[in-house]
Amino acid sequence: TPDEVAALAVLAERAAREAGALVRGGRPDRVDVSATKSSPVDVVTEMDLASERLLVQVLLGERPDDGVLGEEDGLRAGTSGVTWVVDPIDGTVNYLYGVPAYAVSVAAVVGDPDPATWTVVAGAVHAVPDGRTWTAARGHGARLDGRALTIGEPRPLAQSLCGTGFGYRAERRRAQARVLGHVLPLVRDIRRIGSAAMDLCSVASGQLDVYYERGLNPWDLAAASLVAEEAGAAVVGLRGTRAGAAMTVAGHPDTVPALVEVLEAAGADSDEPA
Ligand code: IPD
Repeated sequence: TPDEVAALAVLAERAAREAGALVRGGRPDRVDVSATKSSPVDVVTEMDLASERLLVQVLLGERPDDGVLGEEDGLRAGTSGVTWVVDPIDGTVNYLYGVPAYAVSVAAVVGDPDPATWTVVAGAVHAVPDGRTWTAARGHGARLDGRALTIGEPRPLAQSLCGTGFGYRAERRRAQARVLGHVLPLVRDIRRIGSAAMDLCSVASGQLDVYYERGLNPWDLAAASLVAEEAGAAVVGLRGTRAGAAMTVAGHPDTVPALVEVLEAAGADSDEPA
């Protein structure tokens, strides 16, 4: 019901803010790299783990029958039909270097926690360094720091500021560099903010006109895709598919088709060299 969805959004925001406070307060001048994932640039800090633990505590503390899918701990199934899809720090490389663009992302989804089929019903993205907080509840719109958000007028691709991001593995990056070569000459400029959740929220609040990225994980995408959609953006994949790991494209519904066309022609949903 609408009331339930609104309550989930309130809980998402509370959890994201509490984890954000932990992350903000705990960042030492030099951050330790406690483990590595697919390559040495994919850093997992102690704080990533601590933030996820706190998120689980806050969310399941209030709703013990829900599931959780987290970046660090994987899936913990629930029985309520609601799964929280959480990213304890989106933008870990920025966090490591002290670049002020990293966020805690919390979403409530119904159905399998899989972007191909899920319904995201509520979400919050809390930018840790400056405290900006985007929230959304399905059917209730999107907000930035409590203020209702609507994306601006459409711009032609040539005048669009375009966000993107890159995976951690060299093979994927080679393909992404090639695709970037197709996009860069056609847009106003490119930004690589370093947090996919903040990229999608930036489309909602006007710091980016469009965004595309291959290789997003469910936790990068869940909360922020609802923020973007509830602000009026289109969030889609290529070739008529939904946004997800193969490709996520976001922007004004009048501008997205032009970017989709460029990305489809460039084969941006594949890691093939040509
Ligand atoms: C990463 C960031 C980055 C994006 C990568 C993500 P993480 O998330 O969102 O901007 O380009 O695809 O994996 O590893 O910092 O949580």
